[in-house]
Amino acid sequence: MARTRMVRRWRRNMDVSDDAQYVDTLTTLSEGSVRRNFNPYTDIDWDSPEFAVVDNDARWVLPSTDPLGRHPWYQAQPLEKQIAIGMWRQANVAKVGLQFEIILIRGLTNYAFWVPNGSPEYRYCLHESVEECNHTLMFQEMVNRIGADVPGMPRMLRWVAPLIPLVAGPLPIPFFFGVLAGEEPIDHTQKNILREGKALHPIMERVMAIHVAEEARHISFAHEYLQKRVPHLKARQRFWLSLYVPVVMRRLCKAIVVPPKAFWKEFDIPRSVRKELFFGSPESKQWLRDMFGDVRMLCHETGLMNPFAKLMWRLCRIDGQPSRYRSEPARQHVVSAA
Ligand SMILES: [Fe+2]
Ligand SMILES: [Fe+2]
Repeated sequence: MARTRMVRRWRRNMDVSDDAQYVDTLTTLSEGSVRRNFNPYTDIDWDSPEFAVVDNDARWVLPSTDPLGRHPWYQAQPLEKQIAIGMWRQANVAKVGLQFEIILIRGLTNYAFWVPNGSPEYRYCLHESVEECNHTLMFQEMVNRIGADVPGMPRMLRWVAPLIPLVAGPLPIPFFFGVLAGEEPIDHTQKNILREGKALHPIMERVMAIHVAEEARHISFAHEYLQKRVPHLKARQRFWLSLYVPVVMRRLCKAIVVPPKAFWKEFDIPRSVRKELFFGSPESKQWLRDMFGDVRMLCHETGLMNPFAKLMWRLCRIDGQPSRYRSEPARQHVVSAA
């Protein structure tokens, strides 16, 4: 038996040629990549004087959509310290972003390695990899210019990072949920900052605008990919997947939004502030929940919301209403005072 049944099923799942609508969607996404894409060194004028990183630039102060930015402790610090914290934090988020993107690129190429000839997924995955390569260049350039020697992800995750893309070949569905777990919080945070309209440093503003524009496509693809496959899984597989999804969302989101140990030490931030920020206060709890409205919608649509899964979402503290449509801005919440 050269090919077991499992391998045959795995191969069959990669053949999408009989699904005209899916093929059309991927063609549209790929054509979008060709029509509208960015180059980090021609679309950002790094050497123009307005992009220079200078001392005491108040535009690095954290915006109030950032949980730390709106915290009274942060706002009570001298301006100089607020700037230093703002630069470090924004550089670190960029670093986590690029580390995450490197994992994604490795995974996409692992997946594309196996897809059959003629598959539209090959073209799309490679377009996305090219875009992510450009994002990593752009983010690293930003980190270098800010000049803070930030580590990015927590150490533990950096060590297991090389293993994660290996699952993209044999287990693409859990992998693409992991992709969403990284893309949704970054995209959600960046969109909120841009919507807030605070004066940002031009580097931040330009980098985020480019990123948000391309990310919409990446998130669409992950949703399409999962929407196509998840409903056809066996009930048992869907059940385990439904428990895995909230856990991976919570874990990866934490790695992205919570600064690593080095940060708290460097700026001598009291433990109580840290507890409240992630995620002790009602506002920060809501902020966390709001990131995953689209993923909850996807889970509802694909049969991943059974009573046990709902309990898991609640235990992970990311339960709530599903979005009514993708990228729906968070509805206004009434946060009751404790
Ligand atoms: Fe990206
Ligand atoms: Fe992306």
